[in-house]
Parts: sequence; C-alpha cells; structure tokens
Amino acid sequence: MINIPRGTQDILPEETKKWRYIEAKLDQLMELYNYEEIRTPIFESTELFARGVGGSTDVVQKEMYTFKDKGDRNITLRPEGTAAVVRSYIENKMQGIANQPIKLYYNGPMFRYERKQKGRYRQFTQFGVEAIGAENPGVDAEVLAMAMHIYQSFGLKHLKLVINSIGDINSRKEYNDALVNHFEPVIDQFCSDCQSRLHTNPMRILDCKIDKDKEEIKTAPSITEFLNESSKAYYSEVKQHLDDLGIPYVEDPNLVRGLDYYTHTAFELMMDNPNYDGAITTLCGGGRYNGLLELLDGPSQTGIGFALSIERLLLALEEEQIELNANHEFDLFIVTMGDKADRYAVKLLNDLRKNGVKADKDYLQRKVKGQMKQADRLNARYTIVVGEQELEENKINVKNMESGETETIKLDEMVNYFKN
Ligand code: HAM
Repeated sequence: MINIPRGTQDILPEETKKWRYIEAKLDQLMELYNYEEIRTPIFESTELFARGVGGSTDVVQKEMYTFKDKGDRNITLRPEGTAAVVRSYIENKMQGIANQPIKLYYNGPMFRYERKQKGRYRQFTQFGVEAIGAENPGVDAEVLAMAMHIYQSFGLKHLKLVINSIGDINSRKEYNDALVNHFEPVIDQFCSDCQSRLHTNPMRILDCKIDKDKEEIKTAPSITEFLNESSKAYYSEVKQHLDDLGIPYVEDPNLVRGLDYYTHTAFELMMDNPNYDGAITTLCGGGRYNGLLELLDGPSQTGIGFALSIERLLLALEEEQIELNANHEFDLFIVTMGDKADRYAVKLLNDLRKNGVKADKDYLQRKVKGQMKQADRLNARYTIVVGEQELEENKINVKNMESGETETIKLDEMVNYFKN
C-alpha cells in the first residue's frame, strides 16, 4: 500500500464541508474590508524566497521544497505568500493602479519541511492578506482588527493578540549591533546555525528552535530600547488606534517573527484557551514590511499583512468545541419500487437537478426500507416513493421528513413543485 506523504493530509468530505464553509465566510469578510483575491503560482523561483524571506531564516535554510526543473531552473514550492504577492505587485506594476492602497488576499497551499506536530504540516493552507501602498498606522490597525474579526466571526473567544514593534531599518541596525555584543562572548555554546548567523543576522538567534531555552536568549537586549523617535511614534499611533477600536492586546518585546522582511508592527494571534494541551498556540502572524518591495527591485512602497492557516483555525474551533453550521441542505430523495419506476426516476432526477433541486436516488437495488434509511442519512427534506401505481395514476405523495406531513401532487408536476 502506498501511504500519504508525511505531514500532509487528505481532507475527506465530512471535513471539506467545513473548509468550504470557512472559505466562503472568509470571502465574505474580505468584501467588508474591500480586499480582493489574488492567485499566484504554487511554485516560484527559489531566489524570490531566498531574497524576500531572508537567506538566514529557518524557512529558507531548512524548510523549503526546492528542486531543479527540466530547464535547470531553481524552483521552490512556496513556503509563504507575501514574497509572491509582492513579486506580482511589482511585476504587474500595481503601484500605477488608481485605487490605492492595493488590498489583496489569497488562500492556498504552502509547503514547509517541518517536524510534523498537532497544527503543523508540511503542506498547509494559508489564508493571508496584504495591504500595499500606504504607510499609515490606520492600515496597521485595520489589518490587526481584521485578523481578530475573522476569528471572532467563527465564535472563538479565547484569543490573545500579541504585538511588538521591530522598528525601522535604522533602529534595527543599532539593535543588531547590541545583539552581536551580547552573544559574541558565548556564541561557541550555540548551534552552528546561530554561530553563522551572529554576524549576518543576529536577530534570527532569538527564534532559534534549538537554543531557545538558553539563558543568553532570555537576557538578550530587547528591540524596544533601540527604537528611534519615529519608530516609537509610529508604534504608539498603532496602539492608540487599537485602544480606540477596543481591541485588547499584550505587548511582547521579544516577538521578532521568523521572517526577515518585518519592520515596525509585528503581531501574532494566539490561542488562549487554558485547557489546550498542544504545543502550538499561534493561530496567525503578520506585520509590516517596509523594505521588502525595494529589496525585490520594486518601487519604494510599503506593505503590511498577515497569514493564518485553515488547519490551525480548525484546531482552535475543535478546542473551543465550536460546531460549524456547515451541513448542506438536501432537498429530495426518490425511493423507487420496480424497474419501470427506477427508470422513470433517472429521468426525473435529471430534470430536477437541471432546475436547481438537490436530489438523489438509490443505485444499489436497496429494498424500500433501505432506501428510506439512505434518505435519512442524507438528511433529505422530502422523499417520494415511486412505483407502478404512481406512474399509472400520475400522482405522488411528497413527504416532508421533518413534519411527517404528506401532500399529493401530479407526478408530472414534480419539477415545478420543487422549483418553487
Ligand atoms: P508565518 O508566521 O510564517 O507568517 O505563518 C503564518 C501562519 O501560517 C502561522 O501563524 C500559522 O497559522 C500558519 N502556518 C505556518 N506554518 C505552518 C505549518 N507548518 N502548518 C500549519 N500552519 C502553518 C507568514 O507566512 C507571513 N507571510 C505572514 C505575513 C503576511 N506577514 C505579512 N504578510
């Protein structure tokens, strides 16, 4: 037997119902916020992520599915959506569109070679948004509020919004110097990745999965001390907006995120359910990326966004025991008796479906009792039983399965009856 690849999952019909419900709701929410959908390829050139996400991040160094195609090009299955959306923005010259900022959302599979865990997959589905073209704390607030709104609209209550500012490029420069000074004397006790990151990207040491419990990580200087005046002012305006919106948040000066493109606002939304026993509590993460467009040879525009995985949203719903009202309504099940009626039903079904009626029949020659059971399993709102007599008299009893009441109509009026 050939098994499914590790870290992936089949989503079976009982689950796809929930997925479709969630995705439809996300589409509706995006309309409220005036975000439009973008679809980019599932694979991109490796360089896009190496440059965009950062060559010394775990994502790029350890987690990418990279291969050479038959034309000897370096290709990577996308590990995230932001770099790709920014590439598309630049390539399609979206800065020239009159309606600014450009507000986009996406939903699709992402790939990271990570250790499988509850809530962590090698193929997962990210829903994300990116607002590009406005450096305005109000946009940051909109994006954070939207993240919160999404989870709340599914009925989740145990949520914690954690925010931080990692400042502008200048603040970060000073901070990086301080980190080098802090870690340099003890760097030989750290993993080889951290050692090589010390001078290239010391902030990455702070989210190293191997050294995360080392004392020096806990005592490392925090970015907050290094924010310059303009970064501080931007941060406090974002917080002011959140206060105005009545959105509670916790500040965490150690929240630096695992991707290199962030500047200023960084945030994560966490599960805050006291009974949750899993290791993964981050539902969603994002932030502002003011240098990314230029880094990818684009115009000097700035952006902010976030992404969440549907897998973790489902996990949170399960934890809070929230049932989605995702069951499809089913109109009619046709029970048949005898070959003639069965043949008639095939044609009737075809006519009903063409008129928008959700209907089905038996194909396994079940007895009437078995067919009724099938109707129950499908949760059909109505059933009819067609036999020789019904065909001869052109009469049919339509049974409402909920109330138990029946109504007798002409068999050849069925389509019209149900159409209405
Ligand atoms: P990220 O924090 O790497 O950020 O991922 C965002 C979200 O994707 C996570 O909070 C989690 O819900 C989900 N996720 C990540 N890895 C996995 C996994 N292996 N299995 C299941 N879910 C996962 C980004 O990707 C940024 N592009 C977000 C962003 C958008 N920043 C600005 N704009």
